[in-house]
Amino acid sequence: MSFRIPFNKPFVIGRELFYIAQAVESGHLSGDGSFGRRCGEFLARRFGVHRALLTPSCSGALDLAGALCGLDSGSEVVLPSFTFTSTANSVLRTGARPVFVDIREDTLNLDERLIPAALSPRTRAIWPVHYAGVACEMDEITALAAERGLMVVEDAAQGVGATYRGRALGSLGDLAAYSFHETKNVISGEGGALCINDPSLVQRAEILREKGTDRSRFFRGEVDRYTWHDAGYSEVPSEVVAAFLWGQLEHLEEITARRRALWERYHAAFADHEIRGALRRPIVPDHCGHNGHIYYLLLPSEPRRDALIESLRARGILAVFHYLPLHLSPLGRRLGGKDGDLPVTEALSARLVRLPLYHELTPVDQDEVIAAVHSAL
Ligand SMILES: Cc1ncc(COP(=O)(O)O)c(C=O)c1O
Repeated sequence: MSFRIPFNKPFVIGRELFYIAQAVESGHLSGDGSFGRRCGEFLARRFGVHRALLTPSCSGALDLAGALCGLDSGSEVVLPSFTFTSTANSVLRTGARPVFVDIREDTLNLDERLIPAALSPRTRAIWPVHYAGVACEMDEITALAAERGLMVVEDAAQGVGATYRGRALGSLGDLAAYSFHETKNVISGEGGALCINDPSLVQRAEILREKGTDRSRFFRGEVDRYTWHDAGYSEVPSEVVAAFLWGQLEHLEEITARRRALWERYHAAFADHEIRGALRRPIVPDHCGHNGHIYYLLLPSEPRRDALIESLRARGILAVFHYLPLHLSPLGRRLGGKDGDLPVTEALSARLVRLPLYHELTPVDQDEVIAAVHSAL
């Protein structure tokens, strides 16, 4: 079914297609050519990350992070259940056990106050997820990790361009992962980046990403041939993807500003509904600079949420729910998850609806979404 107002729409903002043609003409279409290098250097400089390596997806970057954390079947990792499957897949594939912790009522992020009780002698890492481009309470999380000798991996899939106490998401953990999937703010169809903030991890990260070889060093002229060092992955995107991404990154500020403006318009439009208790709007703490990635509403109950989605659908507007709690998925239940384990996650995920939000959403179309929500409520 096609919708008059879709939930998401990929866009071209600048020279993406020109840069793809340039990449083709340059004769270097595999990875880490001039566009791949430019993107990585830009991300590191702009976001204060020690080193950023492009990957074909955020999922791929998280896989590399799992390997770099040195996880094995004796390890446990703390993460939210309210996240995309990729966060947990990357933990599980190392053999480690994901330990799901509940989320905060306000930001829907991993509740840092519940983490100490979830730690055990086997815990090796904490993997917070910055939901909707709003930061987790990273000071508390990184302090706890330092105290217990744990690694921190930020799942910043949705966090490109957002900040925590003035510092960019992606620059706060030992490692972090960005997504440039077509639903994100800055896109390349599929795409991602691994952010490395612990310099001691860079060399192994490069090797794991390049099929277990030191080919990155070879290309820089640091060794005279490259060879096999580790059980690696293939996580280097082609120059076609990097060229498109570079065309977008050149407009990062404009993309974030536009997204935030759309977010603010929704936020103002639903203030009265919140006052009369018909819904709850997103809460962004003062010390978090969000990037307008997602605009969601929390309805008073699941049936009311479903009714709103249905009413918008009948008007040709696609609004969607988001993560189904991982601990209650078929795999989560096989891992021991049960109803009632994580009450906030279970209650809020059932009441959440995401409204259409994309770069080319026009004020006229946005007004139509707003009017449709008003009339449905
Ligand atoms: C929190 C989170 N982590 C990871 C991912 C995976 O990103 P990608 O599609 O780039 O692999 C997503 C995708 O939406 C996500 O929301």
